[in-house]
Amino acid sequence: MTAGWDPKQYLTFDNHRLRPALELLLRIPHDAPAQVVDLGCGPGNVTPYLRERWPGAVITGVDNSGEMLTTARKSGVDATWCEADLVTWTPEAPVDVMYTNAALQWAEDHEALFPRLMSMLAPGGVLAVQMPRNFGQPSHTTMKVAAAQGPWAAKLARVERRAPVAEPDFYYGLLAPLSEKLDIWETRYVQVLTGENPVAEYTKGSWLKPMLDALEEPERSGFEAAYRKLVLAAYPPREDGTTLFPFTRLFMVAVN
Ligand SMILES: C[S@@+](CC[C@H](N)C(=O)[O-])C[C@H]1O[C@@H](n2cnc3c(N)ncnc32)[C@H](O)[C@@H]1O
Repeated sequence: MTAGWDPKQYLTFDNHRLRPALELLLRIPHDAPAQVVDLGCGPGNVTPYLRERWPGAVITGVDNSGEMLTTARKSGVDATWCEADLVTWTPEAPVDVMYTNAALQWAEDHEALFPRLMSMLAPGGVLAVQMPRNFGQPSHTTMKVAAAQGPWAAKLARVERRAPVAEPDFYYGLLAPLSEKLDIWETRYVQVLTGENPVAEYTKGSWLKPMLDALEEPERSGFEAAYRKLVLAAYPPREDGTTLFPFTRLFMVAVN
């Protein structure tokens, strides 16, 4: 671990999305990578921490959203930003650390994608992945129920995706034969949220978004209201006003 990079300090962050990203970063057994990729980097929320841990590395942030990359560029982090689909993107040089936090759940066909990412690694290189695995939880199952129960059902059936993240066993089977060393684990974070219907707010920025985007008014508001009602019943607020939102995340660190 490089001097000046204090994992303990970062892990004091009370931030539901940043914490798993940093816990993944902590587990990467590479002290001086030359080439680091932040795959599905989004607005570059985590890239500064990669830069801080590895000041000497060339860091490339890849995302297929121009809007996200505009924000990333403005952050001033010393990295190269590349607009590309992570499923087909190919690095220019072998990669020492392929870091991908909360992104691969958006890609299909993991059976092809994970070996492809492993094949991009330099000897001793590391693939580090974190994905949410909460698709069987009420936060998501109530989306399906609300989607099926309204005039919007046919339109939403067209955008509905099957659970994109498989069991740990599936990834172990894929990666173990390709890895010198494989660390795979799950963490169930009990997120303590506040607000009127905080689980609905949480999913609105992620899994609910493509469904809302597929509808026009007044169906959009109608579907959202139906979902909000179901999800509130599934996660009732406690007497003290907080809502507990258990959230499982799957982590993998594979050494080439
Ligand atoms: C939840 S954000 C995570 C951002 C960042 N890794 C973080 O941890 O803060 C997921 C990102 O994956 C990107 N993404 C989704 N599908 C992608 C694809 N096929 N190719 C490239 N980026 C993709 C999205 O644009 C989005 O920025």
